[in-house]
Amino acid sequence: MKIYIQKITGMDIYYDNISKELVLNGKPLNSSIRFLKEMKDVIHDKEWFSTVKPDRKMYYMFRDIHEDADREAAEDNNLRYDITVIPPDMIGDEYVKTQGHCHPCVTGTDVTYPEMYQVLNGEAMFIFEKKEGKETKTYHIHGKEGDIVILPPGYSHVTVNPTDQILIVANWTESRFKSDYRPMLKTRGLAYYYIRKGNESAFISNINNKDASSLEEIRPIDPELIGLKKDEPMYALIKTPEKLAFLTKPQDYGTFFSKVLER
Ligand SMILES: [Fe+2]
Repeated sequence: MKIYIQKITGMDIYYDNISKELVLNGKPLNSSIRFLKEMKDVIHDKEWFSTVKPDRKMYYMFRDIHEDADREAAEDNNLRYDITVIPPDMIGDEYVKTQGHCHPCVTGTDVTYPEMYQVLNGEAMFIFEKKEGKETKTYHIHGKEGDIVILPPGYSHVTVNPTDQILIVANWTESRFKSDYRPMLKTRGLAYYYIRKGNESAFISNINNKDASSLEEIRPIDPELIGLKKDEPMYALIKTPEKLAFLTKPQDYGTFFSKVLER
């Protein structure tokens, strides 16, 4: 089965669910695979984990995707466009999700790098959280095909596939930093897990993340906020890289990021 994502990305690209390949202009792209064993410390249902094969493939990460014509713009502006494919699955009682991480600070500042996502196929539940003193603020955002979501500086984050469809999600980010997976291992995941209980979906508290205090829903952004017309692919922003400068110099965009968290 092939999932065509040409229109939504503006590129000649599809995902082949048999070979698990993303094919750009007829050429398969390299991926990194996340295995279940790497997620042992961040999942809710530990008992379930002991009953399954730890080498189960959970999701596929395709990094630094661009048309040849856009290579220079991406490199010169330190920007990277990635695509992550998360097939439907359950991790015990929890919906399949990314391992989760946080980003480092921009050198010389206390502002961490942000990130911007677009759902290309399926539906996503994005969960962001930030510790403020003794409190943890958690936001969740339900994204449907085409929706764009911005992760502001300072938040640890996880992407969940809560459906029986293949979730394909793209992100733009600064190209050089290394994500930090350690804090999430210490707390055994975010403050909330997204689980299925019978036919219902629910957030449940992570007892190892004791500071949990608030959980709020926010909406995807209005594409106009980043200078995109309705239905214009997020990838197209590489043609006007100044519109992506909030990803590389977030310390200059405080007011912009406060708008992102308005409900
Ligand atoms: Fe990230």
